[in-house]
Amino acid sequence: MIVVEKLTKSYAGATAVDSISFEVGKGDIVGFLGPNGAGKSTTMRMLASYLPPTSGAATVAGYDIFRNSLKAREHIGYMPEGVPLYQDMRVNEYLRYRAELKGVRGRRMKERLSDVYELCGLCEVHKKMISSLSKGFRQRVGLADVLLHEPDLLILDEPTIGLDPNQIRQMRELIRKLGCHHTILLSTHILAEVEMTCNRVIIINHGKIEVVDTPQNLRARMRISGEVYLEIRHDFPKKVVSLLRALPGVASVDFSQNGEWWEFRLQTSADPREAIFELALKYHWPLRELRHAQISLEDIFADITHAEEI
Ligand SMILES: Nc1ncnc2c1ncn2[C@@H]1O[C@H](COP(=O)(O)OP(=O)(O)O)[C@@H](O)[C@H]1O
Ligand SMILES: [Mg+2]
Repeated sequence: MIVVEKLTKSYAGATAVDSISFEVGKGDIVGFLGPNGAGKSTTMRMLASYLPPTSGAATVAGYDIFRNSLKAREHIGYMPEGVPLYQDMRVNEYLRYRAELKGVRGRRMKERLSDVYELCGLCEVHKKMISSLSKGFRQRVGLADVLLHEPDLLILDEPTIGLDPNQIRQMRELIRKLGCHHTILLSTHILAEVEMTCNRVIIINHGKIEVVDTPQNLRARMRISGEVYLEIRHDFPKKVVSLLRALPGVASVDFSQNGEWWEFRLQTSADPREAIFELALKYHWPLRELRHAQISLEDIFADITHAEEI
């Protein structure tokens, strides 16, 4: 559905996207993951033909996005970061206007409007002023706009940014639903979001692609070399430390006191949790927490960079 070859965008003095290549298959829901400034929006703008590349090429549905951009755009629904909308229009006026711009007219317009109201949960608000809507509803109007011309590929730039947890959950569910009939490229800087929505993940950092994998594999990789956190009540933490340190796969142990409980952080190259549980049983340690520490995107980058050094 998307083929990107050595796509590059340089701004005066800086390269935002540095010769990236990747493919997105039909039906995929791909998470485009990276920290702020990684080059996600720049890449998406180029794919949506809003921004000419400095060099490289890309096709969408077989059409070159620059030489044949009108044809390519027929297949693309692009929702930019921040979703610019006309505040002083009603939802239905705005979407009708957008449909006309996209050449969706007459009976088809009527059908499409009622479809997107239904799909995006806008039936109750379609007569309201956009300025009176919550951010969550505005995002849904943005998504409805993108769906009007029935594109098979959706390019969504941080669709959940700025939403509250409830709205985020609704937006995710909507995206998952759309994934049944569309190919989706979705950018985010939140790892958990990709895990909940996507079947593939592309990680970009400093304008370069670092990883292409499934979210499960990525998580498994992190589990093998990661951090384990546990809390034990004990009078002699040093004894616990020496036993923990002796476990296979434990590289280092840090600890600190929290009342009568001790908190231990283990850097690991294999999963020691079962062995820790056995130790706790054997020595009758009261154990109230044993888990992988939360893995952040930054940890993943550190891990990847570290792996490259070895
Ligand atoms: N119009 C622009 N002019 C100059 N630099 C830009 C412009 N747009 C983005 N950049 C730079 O390009 C890099 C990538 O930005 P962007 O694609 O917006 O990243 P992301 O969406 O991943 O946060 C950043 O370092 C940013 O400062
Ligand atoms: Mg961005």
